[in-house]
Formats: sequence, structure tokens, C-alpha cells
Amino acid sequence: MMTAMPRLGEVLDDLASRFDQADLFYGHGTDNAWDEAVYLAFCALQIPFDSDDGIMSRKLTPSELKRLETLGQRRIDEHVPVAYLVGEAWFAGMPFAVNEHVLIPRSPIAELIQQHFATLLPREPERILDLCTGSGCIGIAVALEFPDALVALADISEEALVLARRNVERYGLQERVQVLHSDLFAGLAATYDLIVTNPPYVSQDEFIALPAEYRHEPALGLVSADEGLAIPLRILREAPDWLTEDGVLILEVGYSCAALSARLPLVPLQWLEFANGGEGICRVTRKQLLEYRDCFI
Ligand SMILES: C[S@@+](CC[C@H](N)C(=O)[O-])C[C@H]1O[C@@H](n2cnc3c(N)ncnc32)[C@H](O)[C@@H]1O
Repeated sequence: MMTAMPRLGEVLDDLASRFDQADLFYGHGTDNAWDEAVYLAFCALQIPFDSDDGIMSRKLTPSELKRLETLGQRRIDEHVPVAYLVGEAWFAGMPFAVNEHVLIPRSPIAELIQQHFATLLPREPERILDLCTGSGCIGIAVALEFPDALVALADISEEALVLARRNVERYGLQERVQVLHSDLFAGLAATYDLIVTNPPYVSQDEFIALPAEYRHEPALGLVSADEGLAIPLRILREAPDWLTEDGVLILEVGYSCAALSARLPLVPLQWLEFANGGEGICRVTRKQLLEYRDCFI
């Protein structure tokens, strides 16, 4: 006897209620079980997010149902973030390919990009660097916001750069966006009007205490020695050599901002505020970086 295939709405209800009962952490794209179920199902079945409500009555085929069942169960049993299960994440309103070699994009820097870095830059930047680029999401979104700029994406992870290149091609930016293998600035050969960076800034102790979902992300993208500050301090120390005269550094250190401020009481880091949530991103000019260089140890 044929069993009637369920409709999308029914499957989503079931997935969301199973997510609710499991001890899942949300924070890699959604913040609740229903949105997580929608994210998984719509991406896995390639349903546009702007579909009308009628889509909920769409009957699933047996293979679609099996696919959702398999992915949903991995979300519950292995705590794999949905972005990795479906290979896609959103940043600044745009989709990016992701896999377990890159962090899932979630930086509040997206808001700054969408505001064209209003009031934070002395002029339109001509050359921009996204240091520690991972999937390339920040640099690519910046390149699209500043269509006349040349943009470089740099990362130490070759695997991350494979994905960054794929995302550059997805947006047809190969002419204007370079992808560079580099240990921070060591592999670079130019100066930049703007350096934007979301580097690793989580201490080893904090990393161990993070929810299981984070353990699917590359430790290389999260962990930094010395209370999370080793890499941010290296960036602050080395950045002025890679900035143009009136260049600006935008640096994310997340919740390590308190530790960084305590370490650098004299440095006038400008901590930025975000309407969409987020913290721990500062702006500092080349001039200031040079003036306080001895502090960055
Ligand atoms: C927090 S992730 C940020 C990824 C991406 N920018 C984003 O916002 O989603 C940090 C990235 O820094 C890279 N990284 C770690 N150490 C590095 C180093 N010494 N030099 C360059 N990149 C490094 C990691 O491979 C990872 O892709």
C-alpha cells in the first residue's frame, strides 16, 4: 500500500520540534529551531527563500524526504551546523559556499560594509585587504560595495583559499579580487587604504568550553594564543607597514575586546556600535598604530 508523502509544512513542523527537543546551539545563521529547519530544508531542496506560503503544501518525493531526514538527524546527533550540511551560508545578504575548512560567516562587519563604512574612512579606498579571509565573505562583500576598488583576500589555510576562490568566481570578481596565501602580512607585496580583518581571537580555554557546533569549525580559524590576543596584537603591530599614509584598520576581536582594551589602556581604539547586534570591532588609523606601536607586544 502506498503511504501519502508528507507536505513540506508537515516535515518542517516535525524537524523543528525534533530540533527543539535536542540540545542544539543556534548561532551559525539562525537563532531558533523553526528557522533552522527552514534553512536546512530550503537549501537542501533548492527552494527559494522568497517563495510564497503555498510552498508549504508542496509534497515531497521519497528521495527528498530521505535527504532531509538524513541531514536533520546529523544536525541532531553530530551537532553539525546547517551551513556545513547544505554547503551554503549568508553574509551581508549574499550566499557563500562554505565547508568545514572555513568558519561560517557571521561577522558584524557585514553591517559596516552595507553602510559603506560610513564616517570610518577618509576617502573611497582604492586598494582593500581582507586579512584572514576564510570563505572570502568579507572581501567579496566589500568588493561588491566598492566596485572601483582592487581587493586582496589573504589566508594561511590553502583549503580555505580553495573555497574563497570558488566564491570569487561565483560573483565574477576574478579581475578585481586577488586570492593570496599568506601568514598574516608575510606573503603580501602591496599597501592598502583599508584593511578589514576577522582573525582568530578565541583562547584555548574558551574554545574547549564552546558548544559542540563550534568544534566542526576549523580551530585554526578560531584559536589564538595569549588569551586570544596573540594574532590580533601581531596584526596591530604589523599593519602600519601595509597601510597607505591615511589608511585605516578595522579589526574584529569579538568578546576579547575587554582583554584587548585592558592590555592597551593608552591606545585610542575606536570601538564601533552595531544596530544589528555584535561587538568587539574597532577602528584604528595607521597614524595611531605607528604612534602606539611599542604597546603591541
Ligand atoms: C575567524 S576566521 C574568519 C574567516 C572570515 N573572514 C569570516 O569572517 O568568516 C579566521 C581566519 O584566519 C585564518 N588564519 C589563521 N591564522 C592565520 C594567519 N597566521 N595568517 C593568515 N590567516 C590566518 C584562518 O584560516 C581563518 O580562515
